Amino acid sequence: MSGKYKCRRLEGKVAIVTAATAGIGLAIAERLGHEGAAVVISSRKEANVKQAVEELKRSGAEKVEGIVCHVGNAEHRERLVKFTLEKFGKIDILVNNAGINPDFGDILDVTETVWDKLFDINVKANFLLSKLVVPHMEKNGGGNIIFNSSYSAYKSPPGIAAYGVTKTTVVALVKALANSCAPRNIRVNGIAPGVIKTKMSEVLWSGSSDAEAQITADSAMGRIGSPEECAGAVAFLASDDASYITGETMLIAGGVQARL
Ligand SMILES: NC(=O)c1ccc[n+]([C@@H]2O[C@H](COP(=O)([O-])OP(=O)(O)OC[C@H]3O[C@@H](n4cnc5c(N)ncnc54)[C@H](OP(=O)(O)O)[C@@H]3O)[C@@H](O)[C@H]2O)c1
Repeated sequence: MSGKYKCRRLEGKVAIVTAATAGIGLAIAERLGHEGAAVVISSRKEANVKQAVEELKRSGAEKVEGIVCHVGNAEHRERLVKFTLEKFGKIDILVNNAGINPDFGDILDVTETVWDKLFDINVKANFLLSKLVVPHMEKNGGGNIIFNSSYSAYKSPPGIAAYGVTKTTVVALVKALANSCAPRNIRVNGIAPGVIKTKMSEVLWSGSSDAEAQITADSAMGRIGSPEECAGAVAFLASDDASYITGETMLIAGGVQARL
């Protein structure tokens, strides 16, 4: 154990993190692992999964397993759940981190194919995976589901407005699932990151110092966020420190003023 994080709030817990081989998902997996959870990571490419498992183990996370899972594939989702149960015997935490943005431009130029793809991954796949894990959490006495939405759910930034619509839907899904899951002792929450420095957001901040300046001007803290800053919030929501919080989506955007 590296001692990088001082909290051990998730001892004995088992967590699934989707899209966890890079960026925010990888940071979440590392944080949950360092807080004592056994973690199953996944993404579409086997080489990425292998590399991320090794990286996480090297970082000091003790119990880490990985499997290929394209969240849009029903067989993959079922396999991910089965694999987790085989490896660790239960599921306490699901982090629905997977999200895509295949297009950049005016919302009126978004094709039906891109629209469907956005909703299939960002909303439907994450909903269906949640449905799959709920019975296992319920059997186990409860659990936590955490979605990765986005500040674009509230703000509709230029260029990524259609993606933002899917993330607004995720905020609504968090509320709807929270109501249904509360009697099962399952809390459902979300995070809504601002611009976080990862490969996915590169199109927003790379290219010129002007692009980065425009983003940072939006945030009171005057900077872009890091994946680790999202991971800390997820660990909190997954822990008993958040035991009376459900149906919430937490904005992690350095003071960006954004509301629905
Ligand atoms: N970066 C930001 O500024 C920002 C802001 C707000 C919200 N978010 C949200 O944060 C989440 C993660 O984004 P990120 O910025 O961390 O992205 P990233 O650094 O580009 O990493 C993307 C990860 O997702 C995996 N992946 C892609 N498509 C997948 C699929 N269909 N099924 C399973 N795994 C998949 C990739 O691995 P493979 O290639 O191996 O599949 C990789 O591990 C997304 O939901 C995104 O919408 C990001």
